[in-house]
Amino acid sequence: MNNNETINKLKYTIMQLNKIGMALSQEKDTYKLLESILEFAMEFTKSDAGSLYTVEEKEEKKILKFAITRNNSREIKFKEFALNVDKNSIAGYAAYTGDYLNLKNVKEIPRELSLKYNDSFDKIINYKTINMLVVPMKDFEGNVIGILQIINKKKDYNKKLNSEDDFQNYIIPYENEEAEMVISIASQVAVLFQRVKLYEKIEMLFKSFMETMVATIDARNPETAGHSKRVAILALRFAKSINNVDYGSYKDYVFSNEELMEFYYAALLHDIGKIGISENVLLKKNRLTNDRIGSIIYRFKFIKKNLEIKEFKNLINEEEKGIYNKLDEYLDFIVQTNTKGYITEEEEEKLEEIKKVKYEDYDGELKLLIDDFEFKNLKIKRGNLTQEERKHIEKHVIYTDQILKKINWVENLKNVRSIAISHHEKCNGTGYPFKLKKEQVSFKGRMLTILDIFEALTARDRAYRKALDVNKALNILKSEVERGYLDSELYEIFIKEKVYKVLEEK
Ligand SMILES: [Fe+2]
Ligand SMILES: [Fe+2]
Repeated sequence: MNNNETINKLKYTIMQLNKIGMALSQEKDTYKLLESILEFAMEFTKSDAGSLYTVEEKEEKKILKFAITRNNSREIKFKEFALNVDKNSIAGYAAYTGDYLNLKNVKEIPRELSLKYNDSFDKIINYKTINMLVVPMKDFEGNVIGILQIINKKKDYNKKLNSEDDFQNYIIPYENEEAEMVISIASQVAVLFQRVKLYEKIEMLFKSFMETMVATIDARNPETAGHSKRVAILALRFAKSINNVDYGSYKDYVFSNEELMEFYYAALLHDIGKIGISENVLLKKNRLTNDRIGSIIYRFKFIKKNLEIKEFKNLINEEEKGIYNKLDEYLDFIVQTNTKGYITEEEEEKLEEIKKVKYEDYDGELKLLIDDFEFKNLKIKRGNLTQEERKHIEKHVIYTDQILKKINWVENLKNVRSIAISHHEKCNGTGYPFKLKKEQVSFKGRMLTILDIFEALTARDRAYRKALDVNKALNILKSEVERGYLDSELYEIFIKEKVYKVLEEK
């Protein structure tokens, strides 16, 4: 090599190193990172083939896991396998000792290494491994975290090795300085690799922590256990469907991987504010608690007994006689109304009638048969919550807002809060808590609203209604669209792309 050639080669090397350095430092996917390093090392050394192994722990033992393989002259199928980190295989040896191997001829490995090249794989693909560079990838503490194995250095990188002659004529030995260069790249990558792995671990930690926390909050009420996780699963599928549609306003919209995660967390955390809702409201099953019904039964018994004594003593008047005759009927009615999901106008009138009845307590004081609290709860038109209780439950969105505001979201999750807190808003502005109209809510928020309702309808039986089958739930969603509550185009996509099926698959 003359001076000019040397300078050019050096220039090329520096450029290549720079290029790979830039590309790798951006990479957040460990597999792609390893793929790039293998491809780069092959190109840099003009190698025909190569493999990459990662060191993993299995049952407290270190093993070498075959991660990636490339061969420019043969089509090969990737097959998973693992080697022990010991002196019994070439890659295992490099991992065990931490030394690189420059094997000029794999058929003539120096005796002192006591290694034998296993050519069974070559035979399967009709290939011939001549020489090999095996380089350990070490982290900054010197631990081997992977092995880079590159095979058959060629005179011409683009030459495919087909015939016996090609193997004879086109393969040249690896220079030791090349090995040093590959070691240095491999070690830089090792550090990057560990950083990416750490990043993945932190992400996993965050995700599992959030999922566990949310599951715990949902499980305060057995009827909503698993709700948020299922909404999050639906959310991922819905977003991916948006990516696939080739019609309508969303045909060009693509959720990036980061937006997918953001949407997932928004869905997962949308009800986190339920932590602030008191249990007696959250767990309310009927209009009145069993304790309260018990005390009404006791009260009625007392009144009955009292009136019987009065009658025995001949002290009872006509009005009291009338009350006495109706007590059993009233009590039956109260007990039945207590578990109803809806009451009619006649039933309301009957409650008004009962509300007017007074009785004489043991201290002679006149009291109401049912008090204001009991009357108010029994008189709920639909469901089992009074207006104040409903308002209290609706506050969960405000609490979600307050909680999510306190989290230091990274840039790519910055919209989690705004998406999450719009899940009870309705397109016509009748939702809560902010009464936002369609155009004031992001379409991701409107997607979440659909998913939240769908999941709640199809989840397990509720206190005052059965879980609906999917078709009935879809019909209810449809009527919500017609009433102007839900986004009709997103609803269409939800149906057409069968987003809801994802829950059956799980
Ligand atoms: Fe909610
Ligand atoms: Fe919800």
